[in-house]
Amino acid sequence: MTTPAPRGATITGWGTALPDIIVTNADFEARLDTTDEWISERTGIRERRHGGTTAGLAVEAGRKALDMAGLTGADIDFILLATTTPDYQIPSTASQVQEELEINGGACDINAACSGFVYGLVQAHGLIAMGLNRVLLIGSETLAKVTDQEDRNTAILFGNGAGAVVLEAVEGEGQLVSFDLGSDGTARELLEAPIGGYMSMVGKEVFRKAVTVMVDSARASLADANLTPDDLALMVPHQANIRIIDAACSRLGVPIERTAIVLDRTGNTSSASIPLALVDAIENGRVKRNDNVLLVGFGAGMSWASAIVRWTGRLPEENA
Ligand code: UT7
Repeated sequence: MTTPAPRGATITGWGTALPDIIVTNADFEARLDTTDEWISERTGIRERRHGGTTAGLAVEAGRKALDMAGLTGADIDFILLATTTPDYQIPSTASQVQEELEINGGACDINAACSGFVYGLVQAHGLIAMGLNRVLLIGSETLAKVTDQEDRNTAILFGNGAGAVVLEAVEGEGQLVSFDLGSDGTARELLEAPIGGYMSMVGKEVFRKAVTVMVDSARASLADANLTPDDLALMVPHQANIRIIDAACSRLGVPIERTAIVLDRTGNTSSASIPLALVDAIENGRVKRNDNVLLVGFGAGMSWASAIVRWTGRLPEENA
């Protein structure tokens, strides 16, 4: 569905946060039946971060995004926080972050697993289209706490981190060109964690479905935007497994060199993975004005989400 946004939005600030504890493949090799070689080759992951809290990482990333936008919490009308790993069941993590950042407006969490940030991006545009001026959108996760660190099938994959953006209203179309959000609840048992328990995952099946839904969703957003893969300057995929990204790229016809990758350093950080990769690409000068950037994620649910953003927002000084 294309957004006929009467009032668009643009990104004016960003920030990320990673906790200090670095867990390398060698650390797992020392205590589980696995090897650095297996993990690197099968996933592309070399290290991930442990520690921190979901609210704490969100506050750190959110504060950086506010600072860059030249705003304080009092300027923000709404905070949307995507997470699957809240610190508390009640209240929302957004409420905790709201207090710390002294935000006055509405606050709520979104749980669409690894698709959460893109779901939030679209919802933020919707709020702005309806009249709000500024939304703080954060993806923040502490997946290590819901991952059994003795289970080699999952422990090696997941890490903690956060990424945030500030969206501000602009007259006219704004950045969001098209989007596609979806979910197939019949596949929900492929990846789940009961409250208070650890995550279980049917990895092979998630892998297979992930490639299909990423490609289908990306194609839907491209078609809606009237663009082809050649028109994309950058693809920012959910950072789960380099082989999933590789397979999706080759089916879509997007060269892997045109994707943003941080998973070697972060592992899979669910709803934080797309903002972490996006910010890394922006800060490395890989986004230029009016570039078409495709964000595409998939995750538990099974959920998927893609969005095409034509970059009219802030850029690092050297690119502005
Ligand atoms: O955000 C979405 C979340 N999840 C995902 O995106 C995960 C999607 N799935 C994947 O990324 C991959 O399926 C995995 C990385 C989880 C597994 O890779 P795979 O190539 O699909 O391996 P597999 O499950 O088919 O296992 C191959 C072998 C098995 O041994 P046998 O049965 O062939 O003897 C596993 O027991 O590798 C074994 N294995 C391991 N060996 C060393 C599984 N995990 C490990 C490990 N170290 N950590």
